[in-house]
Amino acid sequence: MSRPLLQVALDHLSLTEALKTTRVLASEVDVLEGGTILCYAEGAPRVVSTLRALYPDHIILADLKAADAGTVVARQVFEQGATWMTVICSAPYATMEAAKRVADEYDGDIQVELYGDWTFEHAQQWRKIGLTQAIYHRGRDAQAAGQKWGDEDLSKIRKLSEMGFGVSVTGGLNPEDLSLFKGIPVRCFIAGRSLSEADDPVAVAAAFHTEIERYW
Ligand code: 5RP
Repeated sequence: MSRPLLQVALDHLSLTEALKTTRVLASEVDVLEGGTILCYAEGAPRVVSTLRALYPDHIILADLKAADAGTVVARQVFEQGATWMTVICSAPYATMEAAKRVADEYDGDIQVELYGDWTFEHAQQWRKIGLTQAIYHRGRDAQAAGQKWGDEDLSKIRKLSEMGFGVSVTGGLNPEDLSLFKGIPVRCFIAGRSLSEADDPVAVAAAFHTEIERYW
């Protein structure tokens, strides 16, 4: 089983603030995520082009959660150097396929963001159209409403993995949460606030790595 990567989600309201985080954390993480909030605030192409110019060797994700206009939207971020882009799980298959065609032109990839209602029948269809990455998400609002990680989450993540998805996991993760997912081939653990709002972000990143090395 490959070792999960560590991804920082940059959900700041300005690039200036996001870059304060990347200056401290870029060398500690594998993936830099231009978060949905940052892309709304600053514009996805600008976010991606800035990150790519500063961090040429990192995997860069544009977390657009795109629902339509797959070709146009994907082109805006892949031509600026994105490695991955997200589409929302409720997007039409045609949108996912269109985004994937653009991603393929740039040797990039599309990730399906799992929020709300989706089914394994949908997931079968995503595999049929060539998608191989999904993000299992406990949303900010769900977390704030008290939703915890549970056995149902773990069995869904396992099943997606058995279907051939590289599954990333996110949603208010702290290092101590990672043991819950042991034995599951997680592609990336994605952390936003627990890293960027920490007093010592490097120490928190090190704690994530310690847990990853302990369990994978
Ligand atoms: C919200 C997101 C976040 O980027 C992701 O959930 C990580 O953030 P945090 O660790 O702060 O919950 O995609 O839609």
